[in-house]
Amino acid sequence: MSLSDKLKFKTLEWTGDHLRVLDQTKLPEETIYLDCDTLDEVVTAIKDLKVRGAPAIGIAAAFGVVVGMHKQNFQTWKEYEERLNLVISILAGTRPTAVNLFWALDRMRNVAMKNKSDDPQKMNRILLQEAVLIHQEDKLMCEKIGEFGASLLKDGDTVLTHCNAGALATGGIGTALGIIYTASWQGKRIKVFSDETRPVLQGARLTVWELQQQEIDVTLICDNTSAFVMKNKKIDCIIVGADRVASNGDVANKIGTYNLAVLAHFHKIPFYVAAPSSSFDSAIPDGDKIKIEERSPTEVTDCFGKKTAPLETKVYSPAFDVTPVELVTAFITEKGIKRH
Ligand code: MRU
Repeated sequence: MSLSDKLKFKTLEWTGDHLRVLDQTKLPEETIYLDCDTLDEVVTAIKDLKVRGAPAIGIAAAFGVVVGMHKQNFQTWKEYEERLNLVISILAGTRPTAVNLFWALDRMRNVAMKNKSDDPQKMNRILLQEAVLIHQEDKLMCEKIGEFGASLLKDGDTVLTHCNAGALATGGIGTALGIIYTASWQGKRIKVFSDETRPVLQGARLTVWELQQQEIDVTLICDNTSAFVMKNKKIDCIIVGADRVASNGDVANKIGTYNLAVLAHFHKIPFYVAAPSSSFDSAIPDGDKIKIEERSPTEVTDCFGKKTAPLETKVYSPAFDVTPVELVTAFITEKGIKRH
């Protein structure tokens, strides 16, 4: 039994003819699966954060290419290629920051180009195989990250995390949370503090939900509580995920990650970034070049089901920030631990 089999839910799965995703906008109240059989449905699921987290976005997009190409009639490779380019460009426009999206779409395009002499039916099967492979590889990468990262945790340690870099964000057990699961399955008693993660509360709604499923001791804090917690509670390390790591090591991750890194530095707490190699972007020299997604103002002005700011309030809502590499103690990838 693989570690991923210990999870009680499936973030995304290929059913045999379409993509099924767990609708994360409904968590923690409802566990509802969403069937995506058309390109539009996959695009909406990614844009609306029904499926989110960098690796999961990449996997969903790979299957998005598959559903975007099936049930079509093609006479020539040229027709096939035109549709493929359109499907890929539509999926590439869903969310700009997580490089896993572009990495997965490049893989899908490359495998098609390599096999362009094949007929459309065969080509569709090749695309499906590649998407399944991207999913399986991510699952294995998570397990490796879990093993390497767990070696940094001792019995009784307390970890602070931000947003959701768990099973809900990947094709496997998660990156940051995968490390916590692995350590806990090894018998280490690990405690977790989870930041709420405004504006859309991935920490409160998703991280707490999935850690509770695995009976991990988790305490929810408001984002503005983290400095106080670092000073007064025994925080042994901070572990977060990444949406894109530039070639100099600067890290784009959920807004608020940079705050934590600065605070960790002040409190002399190790700050770890856990990410698969698909999150590393060697084409981008440093964090300043990473495109940061801005989300709708209503995610900030409307919360808890009601208006929480006056009408027409000006809002600035970047979904991600960039942590400079000098604040990162080490990267935990499927290849090992790389200290900075
Ligand atoms: O906007 P989201 O929910 O997609 O943001 C997710 C994050 O920032 C995660 O920390 C990151 O994608 C890593 S997931 C393993």
